[in-house]
Amino acid sequence: MKTITLLGSNLEMPMVGLGTWRAQPKEVENACRVALDAGYRHIDTAFNYNNEDSIGKAIREWLDSGKGKREDLFITTKLPNFGNRPSDVERFLKMSLEKLQLDYVDLYLIHMPFSFHLNEETLSPAINEDGSFCLDTIDFIETWKVMEEQVNKGLVKALGVSNFNGEQLQRLYDNSVIKPAVLQVELHAYMQQKDLRALCKKLGVAVTAYSPLGSPEAHKHFRTKYNYTMENFPNILGHPIVNEIAQKYHKNAGQILLKHLIQNDVIVIPKSGNPVRIKSNIDLFNFELSEEDMTRLNDLDQGEDGRIFSFLFFKGVENHPEYPFRKKEVTK
Ligand SMILES: NC(=O)c1ccc[n+]([C@@H]2O[C@H](COP(=O)([O-])OP(=O)(O)OC[C@H]3O[C@@H](n4cnc5c(N)ncnc54)[C@H](OP(=O)(O)O)[C@@H]3O)[C@@H](O)[C@H]2O)c1
Repeated sequence: MKTITLLGSNLEMPMVGLGTWRAQPKEVENACRVALDAGYRHIDTAFNYNNEDSIGKAIREWLDSGKGKREDLFITTKLPNFGNRPSDVERFLKMSLEKLQLDYVDLYLIHMPFSFHLNEETLSPAINEDGSFCLDTIDFIETWKVMEEQVNKGLVKALGVSNFNGEQLQRLYDNSVIKPAVLQVELHAYMQQKDLRALCKKLGVAVTAYSPLGSPEAHKHFRTKYNYTMENFPNILGHPIVNEIAQKYHKNAGQILLKHLIQNDVIVIPKSGNPVRIKSNIDLFNFELSEEDMTRLNDLDQGEDGRIFSFLFFKGVENHPEYPFRKKEVTK
């Protein structure tokens, strides 16, 4: 498995990991088993995916079976947007570790730069009477200081952030002792994050692509969970150029989309609960896309128009001062 060495540590991060968002407990437990047997060593989860305990079970079973050691694995989890208060960081990390049955995680991310108040009873965001989310203004630099303490305590190997824009990443980089090693953002053929990738390259920060296949089922989730409808949801896996290239290399569309990102030095974390797709999503290292085909795929980029995850399904989030995806005002 190809890896990327993370900034400030000797940690090797595998370039393919198993995504687990929306995966139900039984589904994800089996997915992890299949994935580990298929050669995955990197799993991506988060406190608010509510599946860390199932992942923990599968990891424990794999370790106990003697198939590998803890240090062979790379496990990422994330501090939820309702846990960003400095006083909450360690508590949420320890809850994640307990569910994962681990002494440490390899990578701990601030899931989002904006914060919500906490509903202490349900351990989820507090919601106002009108259905909007209760915004909490926390300086993520303060959150980060406590994240750094977790590294020093040995509970985390490396730190990073997710859904930060370039300015936020730079501000964090300039104001941290332990530098962010990874930025995890939405990244796929329709939204290739060229500016952010250039910034990360300059800073030495590794980039992980979430929704690398365009998250084909996400719109259903937005509708059922948040009653939020997204017009013109993209079908990247169905794009004719992707499928033409897939035929040429005798691969499937998913493998072409993932390989395109990997050849652009981006780590990918495709989610699947299907054993055949889990195996195919890591079967990426026996072919190489030509320069010409890379250019054709690079040209599918729609920039900001390709974004699926605006997070506007969190009612009122656009009013948070750290909302990262505000479109720039056009000055006349
Ligand atoms: N940091 C964040 O805010 C954030 C946000 C979103 C996602 N993520 C992370 O990134 C991971 C991946 O993103 P994602 O789950 O949104 O989307 P994705 O990986 O782009 O797509 C997953 C979907 O594609 C299907 N699929 C998987 N492999 C396929 C293939 N080879 N061909 C056709 N369909 C395929 C899956 O269905 P089956 O399961 O039926 O195969 C699933 O519905 C997440 O699971 C999560 O770990 C992070």
